[in-house]
Amino acid sequence: EKGGFKHFMLKEIYEQPRAVSDTLAGRLFPERGEIFLEGLNLTDEQLRGVEKLNIVACGTSWHAALGGKFLIEKMARLSVEVDIASEFRYRDPLVDEHTLTVLISQSGETADTLAALREAKAKGGITVAICNVVESSIARESDGVIYTHAGPEIGVASTKAFTTQLVALYLLALHLGRVRGMIDAVRCRELIEPLLSLPRKMEQALESDEQIQTIAREFMHARDFLYLGRGLQYPIALEGALKLKEISYIHAEGYPAGEMKHGPIALIDENVPVVFLCPINDTFEKAISNMEEVRARSGRVIAVATEGHVGPLGDVDALITVPETTDEIAPVLTSIPMQLLAYHIAVLKGTDVDQPRNLAKSVTVE
Ligand code: F6R
Repeated sequence: EKGGFKHFMLKEIYEQPRAVSDTLAGRLFPERGEIFLEGLNLTDEQLRGVEKLNIVACGTSWHAALGGKFLIEKMARLSVEVDIASEFRYRDPLVDEHTLTVLISQSGETADTLAALREAKAKGGITVAICNVVESSIARESDGVIYTHAGPEIGVASTKAFTTQLVALYLLALHLGRVRGMIDAVRCRELIEPLLSLPRKMEQALESDEQIQTIAREFMHARDFLYLGRGLQYPIALEGALKLKEISYIHAEGYPAGEMKHGPIALIDENVPVVFLCPINDTFEKAISNMEEVRARSGRVIAVATEGHVGPLGDVDALITVPETTDEIAPVLTSIPMQLLAYHIAVLKGTDVDQPRNLAKSVTVE
């Protein structure tokens, strides 16, 4: 049942290129410069009438939501608020008939996310779910649904559900941008392009597995980890830290790299590994200078960078590379070393990777 893998989590990490292909299947029309989302169930007119967009989720799905904000604001120029479901539902949120609330949930059964959906509906808002489980409660009760088609996820730590959520959000952002006239057919085609090579690049990112195992051996005894990234890499920093916490029980925090000097820098010394997410992009230089600040305080740096763009990194304690792609797609690739690093550290520590203590796959109580 684990297909030769030691754990479901590892199997699911390796399934990601296939999972992403399935998320994309039948949805891309590069010739026409269009995206088709079969279950969205909202007319172009409804989508043009949206004045405000909320994305609501818990845990890993909330990290995907943070990425979604970046993608939708950039491609559709629509302002997006991201909320944790247990906060949203009790806040008397501002929702009216021109508000689109997007609920993200792998299981489609998370109690707080389901309650947030009901709250948004009760206020007359439009709702769309991004779900992995077909016919789950959240999928059924939403006006529309974008299925991630990742296949069953059994490991408690979410992996392929997360990367497919990011891809589904990219498609939604592109579709919204196109329908709302912020992106023309030519631009849409350009933005579809990097999706076509994404599964292959994910395969390549998986090839670092053995090297990451070596890195895991070197850093497994640390008591705390810091994960830093900017822009779309910030949610990946949060996700990397959550994966490590969940399955290895090592304390880890994710921060936007630019926020480091506002507090977390006080934690840095030779005992705290700092995972830097720094693929090539517009803020690459800034990431490098943040990295220098860490090194100046004897912090140990594990850099996740783009193949062919590692020169400016200088001396790092460990280096993992991913293939080059666009800034908007890069988080799907940088997620892979985050998962593998957490996985290997947990295996070395001998924890129950697929069933971490105190955690349930689907949180159906508040
Ligand atoms: C982390 C993890 C959890 C879930 C969260 C929401 O690896 O799996 O944080 O992401 O409980 O679950 P769903 O997406 O099913 O609503």
